[in-house]
Amino acid sequence: MAANKLNIVILAAGKGTRMYSNTPKVLHKLAGQPLLQHVINAAKQLKADKIIVVYGFGGDAVPQAFTHEQITWVEQKEQLGTGHAMLQAAPYLDGDANTLILLGDVPLISIENCQQLISKTQALGLLTVNKANPTGYGRIVRDASGVVQAIVEHKDASEAQRQINEVNTGMMAVNNGHLKQWLSQLNNQNAQGEYYLTDIVAMAVKQGLTVASEITNDEASVEGVNSKPDLAALERVYQRRNADKLLLAGVTLADPARIDVRGELICGQDVKIDVGCIFEGKVTLADGVSIGPYCVIRDAQIDQGAVIQAYTHIDQAKVGAKSIIGPYARLRPGTDLSEEVHIGNFVEVKNSQIASQSKANHLAYIGDATIGKKVNVGAGTITCNYDGVNKHRTVIEDEAFIGSDTQLVAPVTVGKGATLGAGTTLTKDAPPNQLTVTRAKQISLNWQRPVKKK
Ligand code: UD1
Ligand code: CA
Repeated sequence: MAANKLNIVILAAGKGTRMYSNTPKVLHKLAGQPLLQHVINAAKQLKADKIIVVYGFGGDAVPQAFTHEQITWVEQKEQLGTGHAMLQAAPYLDGDANTLILLGDVPLISIENCQQLISKTQALGLLTVNKANPTGYGRIVRDASGVVQAIVEHKDASEAQRQINEVNTGMMAVNNGHLKQWLSQLNNQNAQGEYYLTDIVAMAVKQGLTVASEITNDEASVEGVNSKPDLAALERVYQRRNADKLLLAGVTLADPARIDVRGELICGQDVKIDVGCIFEGKVTLADGVSIGPYCVIRDAQIDQGAVIQAYTHIDQAKVGAKSIIGPYARLRPGTDLSEEVHIGNFVEVKNSQIASQSKANHLAYIGDATIGKKVNVGAGTITCNYDGVNKHRTVIEDEAFIGSDTQLVAPVTVGKGATLGAGTTLTKDAPPNQLTVTRAKQISLNWQRPVKKK
């Protein structure tokens, strides 16, 4: 295209009636992110100088969901058609730029297709696709030599035009000077009483300008979400494509159809992932990490050779190299485990650091604790970190042994090499290297069980 500057307008004012939801359509999530976020990400990848989003249904809910992005927001109060939507954006378009028009409900856009379209376009260019069933779409009308003449909307099309399989994806590139002029000439004299953006094609042709076109063969990349079945279908496409990328990069997936990545999953070499796992936010799996079935892992770093066993939940935590976690373990925010730590079934860890080779293998709660090296935390141990108002820390020094069913009433410290007898309720610090026992001495009495009264 002639001018260098690129504006991107994202049309996102539609209600999405067939979603049957109070949430504006573009805020529904695909791979854990709003549909519109996917489109904004594409716009950023295309290095847009300005991103304009036309919003409408749902009011400020849409802009409020994207305060983290640099967007020019334009409200379209009434949805009178795609041409009307662009008319609202027109005052914000740069004079010396070209505009790429994207749709807020088409999340799997291909960057390559957009770049191709932009580079082919002089005044106006269309991204089109051939559909086996083109019903509902605007048809691309070409003359005998294949030159684009017009787009005719389905409802306005003749029987002959309805036989055309090539349709408008809604994505276009256009020179701003022309665009502003054409938009001012739109009317709504058509079957739907809408201002059709697609009418600008015939206007360009009438002026003797060539309308460029890029035909994509990747249908999913131009598919819009109109309903929950559409959303579910595109989610599967996204997940499958992502799984294939992981496989190609050398990750072993037990089943590429049974992994969900809702964010960024970074994998080293020889990573294995069993079925049913969900990864959210940013998750890093270092070389040789193995993830068992049905784990949910969010914003976490798992270091070399660690093994995460079935049904483990990890959220905002770090797992050290060669550690073994689970099955059924729960690592909550602020968990930082060093190398070779073992966290077993039904053990919950929160806001705690655990140094190398320490173990908590069964049924424990470790919250707000600092645990040294080679500590053994017995089954049923609980850090009583909360007094009903404030949180307090528990410190367990290296090589301590915490007997089963111990309560550590924080703030409290267990000294290096200390042993706590089973069933200890520790309310004062335990000295290093000694055995501390707080339970009553065991006694045995002659005693008769009560008998039932008649
Ligand atoms: C439009 C095209 C059609 C194309 C189809 C692809 C026109 C007239 N028709 O159809 O050629 O095949 O897309 O899906 O452009 N929107 C607004 N404001 C409005 C109307 C729509 O922001 O007033 C937005 C919607 O939120 C949506 C997009 O524009 O993201 C397309 O609107 P939609 O109603 O789905 O498409 P059609 O107009 O039916
Ligand atoms: Ca549509």
